[in-house]
Amino acid sequence: MKKILILNGPNLNLLGTREPGIYGSQSMEECLTTLRASFPEVTIDYYQSNCEGKLIDRIQQTIHDNSAGIVFNAGAYTHTSIALLDAIRSIEIPVVEVHLSNVHHREDFRHKSIISSACKGVIAGFGMKSYHLGVLALL
Ligand code: DQA
Repeated sequence: MKKILILNGPNLNLLGTREPGIYGSQSMEECLTTLRASFPEVTIDYYQSNCEGKLIDRIQQTIHDNSAGIVFNAGAYTHTSIALLDAIRSIEIPVVEVHLSNVHHREDFRHKSIISSACKGVIAGFGMKSYHLGVLALL
């Protein structure tokens, strides 16, 4: 069975209660339940951390765990992290960058993604559906 990792960065553990006007009121657990039901042929792994180094460790782990791809919402590290860019470059499997919000409709500092150049593609602005579209893109 194909295995895909959903990887979430800082503050995304608070989805459901964090700025619901921007990110919606669905929790990540609810989103994962929907995703697993929508893609029964795929093993959907999930990992979230607020720490850059732990996200890098999890990305590197995919080298050994037979993952087929990563749907990655790096949160605010999207806009700052060369270390995450290098981690994505260090693995062979495709990474799809996703954002719940349309970052291009928001503050200027959110318009620049440090990690996009290493990703297969970018999906932004579709709320929790961004994760669904990310999995579809990988498949
Ligand atoms: C986000 C957008 C980022 O700018 C922000 O820092 C986040 C969430 C999104 O999913 O829309 O934490 O990645």
